[in-house]
Amino acid sequence: MKTRRHDNHISIPVESEDAERKNAILLQYIKEKVNQLLQIMGTKPLRDEELNDESLIAIDPIGIIAESFEQVLEHLKESNRQLQLARDYLQAVFDTAGVGISIIDRDLRIIKCNEKQKELLVAGVSHIEGKHCYEVYCGIDSPPLICPAIETLEMERPVFLKEVTKKGRVFQIVTSPLRDSAGTITGVIEVSLDMTEKKRAEEAMCQAEKLAAVGQLAAGIAHEINNPLGNILGYAKLLLMDQSITEAQGEKLKVIVEQANKGGQIIKGLLEFSRQKVPVFEKVSLNECVENALRSLGKGNSIRVVKRLGDIPYVMADPRQMEQVFHNILLNAIQALEGSGAIEIESKVIGGSIEVSVRDSGPGIPREHLSRIFEPFFTTKPVGNGTGLGLSICSELVKKHGGSIFVESEIGGGTTFSIIIPIGR
Ligand SMILES: Nc1ncnc2c1ncn2[C@@H]1O[C@H](COP(=O)(O)OP(=O)(O)OP(=O)(O)O)[C@@H](O)[C@H]1O
Ligand SMILES: [Mg+2]
Repeated sequence: MKTRRHDNHISIPVESEDAERKNAILLQYIKEKVNQLLQIMGTKPLRDEELNDESLIAIDPIGIIAESFEQVLEHLKESNRQLQLARDYLQAVFDTAGVGISIIDRDLRIIKCNEKQKELLVAGVSHIEGKHCYEVYCGIDSPPLICPAIETLEMERPVFLKEVTKKGRVFQIVTSPLRDSAGTITGVIEVSLDMTEKKRAEEAMCQAEKLAAVGQLAAGIAHEINNPLGNILGYAKLLLMDQSITEAQGEKLKVIVEQANKGGQIIKGLLEFSRQKVPVFEKVSLNECVENALRSLGKGNSIRVVKRLGDIPYVMADPRQMEQVFHNILLNAIQALEGSGAIEIESKVIGGSIEVSVRDSGPGIPREHLSRIFEPFFTTKPVGNGTGLGLSICSELVKKHGGSIFVESEIGGGTTFSIIIPIGR
């Protein structure tokens, strides 16, 4: 069928009755569909009198619909752009937030988690989404007894945990219900704040305060005890020189001298600890300090000492204080070995510092003791064998040199103490 267009008018030539009938059907179909579309668009449908060929063409409803579609499409495009923008904002906030965020479904499966959460708890695990949160975040294969996500799902309210330890880090956790538009809880949003550094800083501060208080107390007691102890030792030694005492009396006096000396050592330790001597800095070879400390310690023949002392530069340090640090740590290692085993001492440059590590093949330190070994008076040694001051003195001295001291230990796997001293002070 041929059509011609004059302005807005299209004339449809009638060639036969059959063609006329077909035209009528076609026109009716077009009218119906046009009305349907007009209704969808919110425009009034064509009235019957407008449904004749001429007015239909004059009104140009298809043109109106096309225009409306164009507008709707524009609007949709703009809405899409706005949605994409909002999505990008949300994603950026989600990924750059300084807290770990996870969205978890009712079966405790992770729907989504942000970069911080991955960095904190799931290093090296791919395809986290879909896995159970307790497997990925807690490293266990069934839900834990205390789980804020479960509590939130059951109680339908937010839950706050002040301190949770996961994979060696300390977290504050808040879980909140995730609801759909109908208000039904479909899962949980879990936010984890890493408190590890803050907690360490608090502990260090508490430790420093404790040390200062203990130091003062120790100084006072040490002075008070030192004098009577000196008298006991002096008189016992005098008596030992007396020719008239019997052999049995002599043996007893030797025990008095021995015990008084032991007491004297403890007092010396207490005084050293409390005196907080200011270091006298000079150019020092830490390797030499290690050698001197080793020389000052007698060790059993069956203890093997392996030295890997590197080519390290001098540091500005107090040599006597550094020797004391190595002495205390080596003494602990020798005591831990109880006569047999190996000690490896290594020194090397790491960045702008020197690291001296002392590793022994002893029994290791139980996990529950690890956080306490630097506390003054913490000892696991029998009465008379240790005051528990060795490591707290080391820690204080190393700190005064701007350095730090670390321990790594595993039951049955030995212990390594690392002392880090900055080179350029
Ligand atoms: N190398 C080690 N292997 C195993 N345990 C260790 C080691 N070094 C330290 N410890 C543990 O740490 C505790 C504290 O050590 P620290 O040197 O402060 O005190 P001490 O050795 O008990 O007494 P002191 O040093 O005052 O004579 C020890 O009692 C011991 O339990
Ligand atoms: Mg010790």
